[in-house]
Amino acid sequence: MPRIDYFTEANSVEAVNARMGEATDPRLREVMASLVRHLHDFVKEVGLTQAEWEVAIDFLTRTGQLCDAQRQEFILLSDTLGVSMLVDALAHRRPAGATENTVFGPFHVDGAPELPMGSCISLDGKGESCRYTGRVLDLDGQPIAGARIDVWSDNSDGFYDVQQPGQQPTWNNRGVFVTGPDGRYDFVGIKPVSYPIPDDGPVGHMLTRLGRHPWRPAHMHFLLTHPDYERIVTHLFVAGDDYLASDAVFGVKASLIVAYRPVSQGDTEWEAAADFVMVKPPSR
Ligand SMILES: [Fe+2]
Repeated sequence: MPRIDYFTEANSVEAVNARMGEATDPRLREVMASLVRHLHDFVKEVGLTQAEWEVAIDFLTRTGQLCDAQRQEFILLSDTLGVSMLVDALAHRRPAGATENTVFGPFHVDGAPELPMGSCISLDGKGESCRYTGRVLDLDGQPIAGARIDVWSDNSDGFYDVQQPGQQPTWNNRGVFVTGPDGRYDFVGIKPVSYPIPDDGPVGHMLTRLGRHPWRPAHMHFLLTHPDYERIVTHLFVAGDDYLASDAVFGVKASLIVAYRPVSQGDTEWEAAADFVMVKPPSR
């Protein structure tokens, strides 16, 4: 009789991975074999108890049950564990001088109105006004024409329009601008405020148990696209914000922190200037 290697504590990884069929897609085989290895190593390293396993199952169940078209608790989990930023870092190893990426976040909406340069995107009249200016450049410092700049931020209460339908005007603090030959952009929004990520679900509970807060430092979102260049998903962070060093989703990079300067001394009208540098996609 052929010897059968039944499942044991010692051979658990091999026992599971040996079941994969011959025809399994090679990349899926690589990913799953590694996942099983790390998962089993983790269970063995911490000596996971049955009660802890039940807590984990319940946590993941509640995380899934909270997800719908408006709420994505699993992305929040990925964000707060640093996985979203890590995957983004692996995918965007850009040369020095190029604008760095950060998290996309859950509040982007396709179809925001395309506006002439100089337009104001704040429609609720709340908050401290801020004029955003700068250029979209290539790595040689040459202006890029036809770059599409999609911007969005919270309002001065710390909520995006989609979080308060009926309360905020549609497209409040959102707009799309397309650069001309000089690569310049120019629009008026607000000086954004820091806000907590949704913390009334399992991820918020996890943060509390870990002694972490749910706050993100104030930021303006930017999505830059152009047919000839790699897409940039990034933010401008407000210099001096209390949460720059402890962003709940690890999105802050030093190069993305921008000084918001008062238009005149003691003023509550602000200016923020930043250039964006796009790179060609890696050739395949
Ligand atoms: Fe945001």
